[in-house]
Amino acid sequence: MAQKIIIDTDPGQDDAVAILLALASREIDLLGITAVAGNVPLDLTQRNARQVVELAGRVTPVFAGCDAPLARPLVTAEHVHGKTGLDGIALPEPGLPLQSQHGVDFIIETLRREAPDSVTLCALGPLTNIATAFERAPDIVERVQRIVLMGGGCFEGGNITPAAEFNIYVDPEAAKIVFGCGRPITVLPLDATHKALTSRDWIATMRGMGRIGEVVASWTDFFERFDVAKYGSEGAPLHDPCVIAWLLRPELFKGREINVEIETGSELTLGMTVADWWGVTDRPANALFIGDVDRDGFFDLLTERIGRL
Ligand code: RIB
Ligand code: CA
Repeated sequence: MAQKIIIDTDPGQDDAVAILLALASREIDLLGITAVAGNVPLDLTQRNARQVVELAGRVTPVFAGCDAPLARPLVTAEHVHGKTGLDGIALPEPGLPLQSQHGVDFIIETLRREAPDSVTLCALGPLTNIATAFERAPDIVERVQRIVLMGGGCFEGGNITPAAEFNIYVDPEAAKIVFGCGRPITVLPLDATHKALTSRDWIATMRGMGRIGEVVASWTDFFERFDVAKYGSEGAPLHDPCVIAWLLRPELFKGREINVEIETGSELTLGMTVADWWGVTDRPANALFIGDVDRDGFFDLLTERIGRL
């Protein structure tokens, strides 16, 4: 039986690769994609999500969710992802229509319709949509099978401030709600995703894999310039595909069940994931916090699956 998921996302080149990985994997039943404001504003993230679905030749429904964080002005990341959010290669205007239903209502309706404990939420951007759904319909929380999200950092620090990773920083109030929801959570933080670095060889392999491989290579070529300049890293960290890869092959990842709290009060450390990796508090564990990934295994999986599209 395929794993039913909803992808909540702010494409973003790495989000786009994660969506392709999900669409290429028969183990996954992607019920729908809900776009959220994040890397770029919502009108672009919903458009980008539709472009990616169309690139894969699918008709997975795409919904627009929230266009701003719960309690703060939107912070975007055009400096990383470019003006469109999917810079690197021009894709045609999407013919796939945007669903008229709001993304938050889709999440609520789907969780109420599907069997309890059967749908996993995969969050690739700020957690505004998911937190809003939980606040608006508390009855759905216990029906969620698991939340697998890219966000936060521990030993790796932050990438938008010294203390905070972008997805959590954009909407820390939403992250606090999600991390406090009581359902199983798997966190793919910068500690893991900064090890999922593309290489020149992998990008060359992608370039030789037809149209979709060419598009993925162009996205990662564009996307990596930020991290190479900032961290001197060899390639681009494919943050969001780690979420889908964990679902498909959790054995490629290592982590531990720990307590993770979200800073929402201090301006200095706003959005920090306070991860009790060493268990120095008596705060109860609320997340499987991933600290390591088998880089070769991860990219072998990506190559094999993208080759199927
Ligand atoms: O900090 C990395 C995260 O922020 C990724 O999800 C990337 O797409 C951006 O949303
Ligand atoms: Ca993202």
